[in-house]
Amino acid sequence: MNDDHISRREFMVGAGAASLLFVAKPNWGAFLNSKDNLMSEPKLVSVPQAIPEKVYTSEKVGISRKTHDEHLKLWQGYANQTNNLRKAMAELDTDPAKANQITSPMRSLKVDYTFAYEGYINHNVYFETLGGSGGPATGAVADLINATYGSFEKWAADFKATGIAGRGWVYLAYDHDEKAVFNYIGDAQNTFPVWNHTLLLAMDVYEHAYYLDFQTARAKYIDAYMQCIDWAAVNAKL
Ligand SMILES: [Fe+2]
Repeated sequence: MNDDHISRREFMVGAGAASLLFVAKPNWGAFLNSKDNLMSEPKLVSVPQAIPEKVYTSEKVGISRKTHDEHLKLWQGYANQTNNLRKAMAELDTDPAKANQITSPMRSLKVDYTFAYEGYINHNVYFETLGGSGGPATGAVADLINATYGSFEKWAADFKATGIAGRGWVYLAYDHDEKAVFNYIGDAQNTFPVWNHTLLLAMDVYEHAYYLDFQTARAKYIDAYMQCIDWAAVNAKL
């Protein structure tokens, strides 16, 4: 999957109208069996209504208000599609005889659900942890970064290089088993999660996060992003 393909899909999700699954109101009734097979009423996620005001301070280093305002539409799209999929799955027939690994509604909805929900989660963390003054990490997360990487500078170099190597995301996450942090690489929204981690920092490196301001110069965007990390918000996630 290349960046262009991902961008088109993100646009489709963000446009709200859109995943192919939801172009028209789906006839989920065709998949229904008895009421015994239905899940209970789904819990829905809250749809973000605005970019947190502090995030706009990134304008001083070149990440524009326009970029964030356009990005909000994508963030909302992931929330809306998460909810659409939860509703669809609540009506899905759980008869094992109707599931298969190629075309079944069970497979389609559950795969797309990870893309939508993780897209929502990643963007939640992205916007929660922007709007600070960047610079060296503070608090407990600084100690964890030093324990894994030796220094903030070494961590920052690894984080930036991971951002160049990733197709969509970089994640600083805390491993509850090893009690340590690590910079994970991500491609799509739903790659590559590791169990029993807490997501502390999610840097979006999809082109929609920077192209308007930096065109193809992703490294410059990463430098700007790292001047806007809100380390207090990161620590609050530990
Ligand atoms: Fe994004």
